Amino acid sequence: MNGAQFFIARLLTILAVIGCINSAAGEAIKLPLGLPPVPAAVAGTPTMRKLGEKLFFDRSLSANGTLSCAMCHIPGQGFASNQSALSIGMEGRSLRRNAPSLYNVVFKKFLFHDGREIDLAAQVWGPLLAADEMGNAGIGPLIARLRADTDYGPLFEAAFPGEGATMMTLGRAIAAYEASLLRGGGRFDRALYGGERSALTPREWQGYELFVGKAGCVACHEIGPQTALFTDQTWHNTGVAFRSGATGGKTEVRLAPGVFQNVDLAAVGLAQSGAPNDIGRFEITNAPADRWAYTTPILRGVRESSPYMHDGSLGTLAEVVEFYDRGGGPNPALDPQIRPLGLSAEEKASLVAFLEAL
Ligand code: HEC
Ligand code: HEC
Repeated sequence: MNGAQFFIARLLTILAVIGCINSAAGEAIKLPLGLPPVPAAVAGTPTMRKLGEKLFFDRSLSANGTLSCAMCHIPGQGFASNQSALSIGMEGRSLRRNAPSLYNVVFKKFLFHDGREIDLAAQVWGPLLAADEMGNAGIGPLIARLRADTDYGPLFEAAFPGEGATMMTLGRAIAAYEASLLRGGGRFDRALYGGERSALTPREWQGYELFVGKAGCVACHEIGPQTALFTDQTWHNTGVAFRSGATGGKTEVRLAPGVFQNVDLAAVGLAQSGAPNDIGRFEITNAPADRWAYTTPILRGVRESSPYMHDGSLGTLAEVVEFYDRGGGPNPALDPQIRPLGLSAEEKASLVAFLEAL
């Protein structure tokens, strides 16, 4: 190698190193039109996200090596599960709730249908430790195994230098991967935020007008001036639990038109109907106003993640629209924004078309 060649070779090495540094510094996840910025602390680095992706799809993270996160949050099914209304966990045990879509989950202020968790990295330990989900008996043994693993050990060290696999870094890696599951920049965003009116069809536009107008959906599924997450980051009783009979041993009895009374099923000698006991946010707060209230889901990519609602009790978007048109599931604690809408068949079809375009 002569001097010039050596110089060029050195130059190429230096450029390659700079390239690496650049791509490591270019950590920001590409932001689609219509979404707010992803919090940098959660987004992490590409190395963290890659590790998180491997963990997300790894069955060996469950106690008996059968279940990964991705088996309930299935890519291609909106990171939810289309086959089952209620999730199936460890050894076929049925969970009492539907697996929510993980699209844009990084933007959710309250996680789970009842909003009981607020930190994506901490949330991870919920399914990992739940006996009926991934069934790990404790944090220590799982972390010890990952540290000793010839594959994972170095990957954790690379993603979290000096820390390696810990309770925190495992959560941060998976959260970083989840932060990359974004749905935005679609036809809706181009039409509303990109000035490209024709990106939505006239029927979809009619659906939009209903969504923000007569049907009142936007009161809870918010659309902002520059971004839209379709959630008000809180919880409401839309009457889904009541409709399914998952009322925590209570049932409603109509005493007079519009007057309902809650009574104990046992007291009236009725067996509770099939749905499992679920009182929603009330289970966390014990506040009567939170009975049967669930967090408002982000509706982006919603066409992919049927069935719908916390219990998967509505199979299609048309059924969801019918449900709202009837005024939800009437009950004494129903959110005042939920009322019969009087939509025509055509209006319902437009609303469905709009939801499908998200
Ligand atoms: C057995 C099926 C199953 C497995 C396995 C599973 N989940 Fe879930 N996941 C669910 C269900 C069901 C819920 C809703 C539970 C609730 O609200 O009480 C949920 C909720 C969540 C949420 C909250 C989403 C929201 O919109 O609030 C996140 C995030 C999540 N899971 C991530 C994960 C990760 C990460 C893993 C792997 C470590 C995992 N899940 C494994 C079924 C599963
Ligand atoms: C009072 C607030 C509120 C209003 C108004 C409202 N929603 Fe909802 N929406 C919710 C809540 C809360 C849930 C979750 C209920 C559950 O999980 O049981 C939900 C769930 C949904 C879902 C299911 C999403 C999923 O991933 O399971 C769709 C679709 C939906 N709403 C569409 C609409 C449409 C269309 C309208 C207008 C006709 C509307 N919503 C009006 C609060 C509201």
